[in-house]
Amino acid sequence: MNSASHLLDVYPYLPFKPESAEGVYLMAGGRRIIDFYGGHAVAGLGYGHPDIVRTLEAQARTLFFQSNAVALDVREAAARRLVDFAPAGLDLVFFANSGAEANENALRLACRLTGRGRILAIEHGFHGRTAAAAAVTWSAVGKWYGFPRTPFDAGFIPRNDIGAAEALIDDSVAAVILEPVQGQAGAFDLDPAFLRGIAAACRRHGALLIADEIQSGMGRCGAPFAIELSGVSPDMLTVAKALGAGFPCSALMMTPAVAAGLKHGDLGTTFGGGPLASALMSTVIEVIRRDRLIDNVRTLSQEIIAAMPLGPVQAVQGRGFLLGLRCRKPAKQVLNELLERDILVGTSADPHIVRLLPPLTLQRGHVHALLNALADIGPG
Ligand SMILES: Cc1ncc(COP(=O)(O)O)c(C=O)c1O
Repeated sequence: MNSASHLLDVYPYLPFKPESAEGVYLMAGGRRIIDFYGGHAVAGLGYGHPDIVRTLEAQARTLFFQSNAVALDVREAAARRLVDFAPAGLDLVFFANSGAEANENALRLACRLTGRGRILAIEHGFHGRTAAAAAVTWSAVGKWYGFPRTPFDAGFIPRNDIGAAEALIDDSVAAVILEPVQGQAGAFDLDPAFLRGIAAACRRHGALLIADEIQSGMGRCGAPFAIELSGVSPDMLTVAKALGAGFPCSALMMTPAVAAGLKHGDLGTTFGGGPLASALMSTVIEVIRRDRLIDNVRTLSQEIIAAMPLGPVQAVQGRGFLLGLRCRKPAKQVLNELLERDILVGTSADPHIVRLLPPLTLQRGHVHALLNALADIGPG
């Protein structure tokens, strides 16, 4: 630990210190590093995107902040754009500030609206560090980030086990929460048939289905939201990370049937849906559409997948720009070897999986640089 620092020493830092960033590049000590980590899936449009900078500046000049005590056109517009972008049926939006906060509200609503006290999640899933989100986070089981108990009864379904899902989902279950592509777990893409099986069991038993698209959403998986790739319609969906291109914000979306159970005062936040976040969310969606970034994700993702196995990589999983590269050696070693070649990747909860979560604006030249670096590292 740096004894001169007043920051709590709770993060193991990567071995470089960026001073600035532009496009998909991080600038650090004279180096230009290609960012395949994307600020943990947040930098969907990369860095210093002109439309984002322009929007932020214009909105800051026009109306910097107002709370939810007043209606705002800029907030209405963001909600309308997000509903147009999201899977059909999720017509109502509550804006919040972080992924965990959106999930916290989704889980709370599920218990309240169904009058039930049991939530199921999927083994190895990650949903955040607040009380309810931690209760359904696999790596926190028994620890819950220090809370003495969970706020509801929580259970876990083994991945891709439809039989287990059907046995566990019964009339006591308020909701099932899942990431269609499990990010923290190493970009593990759940089988579409498993997702459809869960959705059908939820419908049979009156349980709600919550899609946590905090990491997988906003075009990252080659569709606006990854759940669409399985043809499943969730009752609620949460999104954050790339939603504001780096400006902290999140959204909880829901069907009119879910929203019908809510009244004034049931949800609230000071900062959620503020003018700056709202303006940026609208611009993010506009740019993804205008620049056909989802097509770009699909094309370049296929090129990465087609090149595997390569160098230390044995196999690949995930979707779009949320990919897990299973390596012969520890992911941390591969991260360091790639960083020596000015390429930044992520790791995951699986010690042998390197995670790619680059900006949607990545170009073919950057993919070639990654593939060349992997080949250069070699299999050893
Ligand atoms: C799938 C998923 N859900 C929830 C969260 C929590 O989001 P936040 O860190 O914004 O609270 C994350 C963050 O990594 C995530 O990947």
